[in-house]
Amino acid sequence: MKIILLTLSVWLCQASAIDLKDCKRPPLRNGFLVPWQHIYDHGTKVSYGCNKGLKPVVETWWGELLCGNGEWSHTPHCVPESNCIAPVVPHATPKPSQVSYPNNSIVTFVCDKGYEFELQLQEKQAACENGEWGPLPKCQRKRNACDAPSHVPNALIKHPYRDTFDEGETITYLCKEGYEFEGKDKSTCAKSTWDHTPKCEPKAEGPPISRVTECGAYPSVKNGKLDISDFALTFRCYPPYELRGPQQVMCLRGQWSEVPVCVGQRHLFLTQMNV
Ligand SMILES: *[C@@H]1O[C@H](CO)[C@@H](O)[C@H](O)[C@H]1NC(C)=O
Repeated sequence: MKIILLTLSVWLCQASAIDLKDCKRPPLRNGFLVPWQHIYDHGTKVSYGCNKGLKPVVETWWGELLCGNGEWSHTPHCVPESNCIAPVVPHATPKPSQVSYPNNSIVTFVCDKGYEFELQLQEKQAACENGEWGPLPKCQRKRNACDAPSHVPNALIKHPYRDTFDEGETITYLCKEGYEFEGKDKSTCAKSTWDHTPKCEPKAEGPPISRVTECGAYPSVKNGKLDISDFALTFRCYPPYELRGPQQVMCLRGQWSEVPVCVGQRHLFLTQMNV
């Protein structure tokens, strides 16, 4: 039994080693990799350094890369020491977006949706000077922003995930297959709360025709009369009036289907002229 298990685990290890690809040495100008090889196994960590006057595009002295199934965790770069590494401002995006910025570059920040600059007068830009960023702005959550909407059973949201939404933003839901909305499918963020929680209910089986008594008052008919049965209203027009539209009207999920009208000869003639 032990031998079988051992064989199995050896086989499993070999199988996983076969499935995960090696990485080729990444291209790197003006720098060196430690260790220096042509091929690195999956899971290998490689350090890199840069030639004099240059630095890796990371916060640390040495850059470190990880080979994961044929792909490196990032691309190594050596840049002048006066370059700045991409600035990190929580809940904001720098424009232009680059891995590194030359001396004296200026970036402009845009706060994420639902966030605004902490102080109205605060700089929305930062400058790179000799490898260091000048003062960086701060983005804070807006007072009326909403959290991500709560989970609705059997529904999906037509929107990538986000944890904060701006006031006035509207999201649209989708019901999973076999389910349909009871009420509207949208929700809008207003004063930190979502104004509506959609509901997805199992779709009604069979035809959606209800008894005519489920639709409330019968539609009115001028110059004609209604014959009422359990599931349909039949319209008849008094001569010389003629029926325009379907003769039978049904109650479909609480609403009348298309209602016909009885029209006189003159009206018929005029509509024909218009056609
Ligand atoms: C970076 O820019 C500043 C301001 O223009 C300048 O004084 C400095 O010499 C520059 N640094 C390098 C390394 O070129």
